[in-house]
Amino acid sequence: MENEGLQPPAAPARELRRRTALLGIGAVAGIGAVDVGAFAYVSGRVTPDRLTPGRLADGFETVFGKHPGFRRNHAKGVSVAGEFVAGGAGAAVSEAVVFEEGRRTPVTGRFSLSGGVPDVADATKTVRGMALRFDLPDGEQWRTAMVNLPVFQDRTPQGFYDRMLAFRAVPDTGEPDPEKKAAFLAEHPETVRAMKLAKKHPPTSGFADSTFNSLNAFHFTNSSGSSVPVRWSMVALQPVRAAAKGPIGRNELFETLIGALTDGPLRWRLMLTIGSPEDPVDDATTPWPDSRRKLDAGVLTLTAVHTGASGNARDINFDPTVLPRGIKASSDPLLSARSSVYAQSFARRTGEPDRTGTVKVAGKRDD
Ligand code: HEM
Repeated sequence: MENEGLQPPAAPARELRRRTALLGIGAVAGIGAVDVGAFAYVSGRVTPDRLTPGRLADGFETVFGKHPGFRRNHAKGVSVAGEFVAGGAGAAVSEAVVFEEGRRTPVTGRFSLSGGVPDVADATKTVRGMALRFDLPDGEQWRTAMVNLPVFQDRTPQGFYDRMLAFRAVPDTGEPDPEKKAAFLAEHPETVRAMKLAKKHPPTSGFADSTFNSLNAFHFTNSSGSSVPVRWSMVALQPVRAAAKGPIGRNELFETLIGALTDGPLRWRLMLTIGSPEDPVDDATTPWPDSRRKLDAGVLTLTAVHTGASGNARDINFDPTVLPRGIKASSDPLLSARSSVYAQSFARRTGEPDRTGTVKVAGKRDD
């Protein structure tokens, strides 16, 4: 697949200026991280089938169609806002100020469904995303994008790309081509194992009772200079209910979330799982043993919900390698790939005509 043919036309200068202003200082940090990431996983071989950020972004457009102005993955979503209050336990493993006892950190976030179709019908089995940006003093930021899976389905960016194409729904049946799917799974036992594990952790009823996981590992360093590998989870504090068995309303997951946030705050507990030396930090398909030490770092409280209009999470690239002092990306090849592909998706969508979200929020204007 040729990259250039699918590239959108360059954005008009006025549009770029407006978006750049909305992005602010943190986005600059994000783009910096992105460039490093791009080199970290592209092999450097000059071959037509080399996997580049552009080819990965093209893959989403091939599978989901092109939807100008929207994220190439997790296209359907709403913005949220609130704060994180640290309990202090996280400071044992990280010097990041976000973990200082009693510190209140403003948070802007986004709930989403995976896939590149912005008005896709809600379904309980679709992977749910929670993305957060913690705004720390002195322009520092912590950005994270988590999902409600126990482990990721792919170990490498190439695996992700190949699975996306192999599992693409065929128009006749609306299901993946069984032969392509079987051929992919025969080559990827790690994906088979990850899918089995996901079956043991069925989705809950909605966004509010979902637990969201970082899946990728990071290195945390405390004020004495000691480092440990960490994976984290936002554990829902709302009562957990089983997902509806049959089909649900087209926007039911989002409408229920919006209704709940209109009625009152929603809360999640940030749990840090500390890895042992034998736990893989570069393989998001492999769970760490349940017995690993866990630290309760504090509580995230979300209080407001917004549409996908400008000025809120629409204009954030939740690049998981934008991290504060005290947290570093691991060698997981997914992390560097995510950084560069999110940047590619961000560059494309912000260079395209404005599109507000497809989910309506009562009482909020879209523009
Ligand atoms: C190689 C693997 C992956 C690829 C190629 C990929 C690709 C993408 C792309 C292109 C976007 C849209 C970015 C934007 O326009 O702002 C996105 C968003 C997202 N991804 Fe990934 N992703 C990968 C792995 C993961 C993993 C491991 C997780 C979770 C642990 C994850 C969670 C999310 C979430 C929650 C969003 C939505 C963020 C938002 O609301 O803006 N992704 N992904």
